[in-house]
Amino acid sequence: MLATPLDPLGTRPPADEPSRASPQVTAWWRTAVIYQVYPRSFADADGDGIGDLPGVTSRLDALRRLGVDALWLSPFYTSPQRDGGYDVADHCDVDPLFGTLADFDELLHQAHARGIRVIADIVPNHSSDRHPWFQEALTSTSGSAERARYLFRDGRGPDGSEPPNNWQSHFGGPAWTRVPAADGTPGQWYLHLFDTSQPDFDWSNAEVRAEFRRVLRFWLDRGIDGFRVDVASSLVKADGLPDVDPSLDEDLAPYTGQPGVHEIYRDWRSILDEYPGDRVLVAESWIKPLTRRADWVRPDEMHQAFNDLFDDWDAPTLRGIVENTLAAFSAVGAPSTWVASNHDTVRQATRLSLPRSDRPNGLGPRSTGVPAYDDTLPRARALAMLTLSLPGAAYLYQGEELGLPEVTDIPDAARQDPTFARTAGEQYGRDGCRVPLPWEADAPSYGFGPGDASWLPQPTIWARLARDRQQDVPGSTLTLYQDALVLRRSRSLAAGPLVWLAGHPPHVLAFRSGRTTVLVNMGSTPTPLPAGDVLLSSTDLDDRTLPSDTAVWMHS
Ligand code: NOJ
Repeated sequence: MLATPLDPLGTRPPADEPSRASPQVTAWWRTAVIYQVYPRSFADADGDGIGDLPGVTSRLDALRRLGVDALWLSPFYTSPQRDGGYDVADHCDVDPLFGTLADFDELLHQAHARGIRVIADIVPNHSSDRHPWFQEALTSTSGSAERARYLFRDGRGPDGSEPPNNWQSHFGGPAWTRVPAADGTPGQWYLHLFDTSQPDFDWSNAEVRAEFRRVLRFWLDRGIDGFRVDVASSLVKADGLPDVDPSLDEDLAPYTGQPGVHEIYRDWRSILDEYPGDRVLVAESWIKPLTRRADWVRPDEMHQAFNDLFDDWDAPTLRGIVENTLAAFSAVGAPSTWVASNHDTVRQATRLSLPRSDRPNGLGPRSTGVPAYDDTLPRARALAMLTLSLPGAAYLYQGEELGLPEVTDIPDAARQDPTFARTAGEQYGRDGCRVPLPWEADAPSYGFGPGDASWLPQPTIWARLARDRQQDVPGSTLTLYQDALVLRRSRSLAAGPLVWLAGHPPHVLAFRSGRTTVLVNMGSTPTPLPAGDVLLSSTDLDDRTLPSDTAVWMHS
């Protein structure tokens, strides 16, 4: 059954607010809290150890209780799962691991019935090497129409044995792989900015553009509320695929932020605008500077672009990021988004307590300096309150509401992220933030599924942090998030405007958002609290001081 889109005019105000004039100003996505579901790890209904769409549906009431406005589902499409589903073999079907199209429709229907929108991931930069188009390309000749959908090139050197250029894969090693010609001799190379199993499309090809218009309409017709666009800044490559100049920043690489990419998103925006219900496009674009990133969210392009993750536990640095982001995005009329964590980064509890200089890509048994969990939690909780208090939309990665740490004891043999193999174990990669969630402390697989199976091993600390151990428990991290989401809505915190407050020490971030004063102590010494009622605090307050690594919201 096809789902009914929510709020056809896009003008539903927050429950406690009167309607305002312009639909664009009140559009839901400007202030939404969007919860990222990584389906492999969220909930497993069929017991195979891998999360699935019926699992998500079965746990929607927990998300409604948490108080989020929308879900962003990481890929659930047909895929050999070489990169957690970001290697798509069929963009218009559900992988049997995750269920069926009927399961997707049911999830969307049930989410909408609970007032929760659903955004899907779309992966347009590359496909899986199992995609029928790539399989056709492999059996076709150089210069054929089948190869022209991807980036096949002859190699350099007299016998073509050198890659066509010096580009490197984001997962380590060269970004080119050579394939045999029809007679079995070494043939052309194809480009893959990520794993060898993820060949890049050629976006100058009209067939590729037409195919993705079809994909967008396929999901929009089913009722999806929008798309998070994977690797949004890399679709278009510079003419001639020139070498990367290693003296220049990655943001200036010939595969990053080429001007032609904006034409694609204008085209996509016009498609979304044909549909009712205020559907959205969200760019995964980490391009710098922020003024350049804001180009993705000009009025006729996408609605949102992800902001930099908050990485530094340092008040002046974070203030700079907030100021620059608000300025750059409001200059083009777009809201800012605040993202504390996602499925690609070390979880915030662990990350914020690692020295900035040696933040690795993942942690494992041989990593040194991993902080003790109880020492890291206060910063993670304070960061949550900061993220949820800033004007704009907020993204919340599954499990952060439970205060989960990065899992560091995954054995090498159980690791799945291609980064681990492609760097010969030098980088652990992203498995540690993707471990299946704990729902029930005393159940097999901590309630992730009906049995013991879990595609990554779960640590014993999951028993302590399981959702049922935290639900309705005063002081738990889950209760903190729930309370914060209620207050964020009732006090219109996300509507701003943000006004910085003077008179606080430099290690305290201090601002007012609407009627709420926000203070975050990022230093090692307590500081006096100003007069006024404390609405919410990330750690217990003994007296009228703001302890280290603590955030408060106060009535102002
Ligand atoms: C960004 C996604 O977040 C990441 O998980 C994926 O590996 C790459 N894009 C490639 O699709």
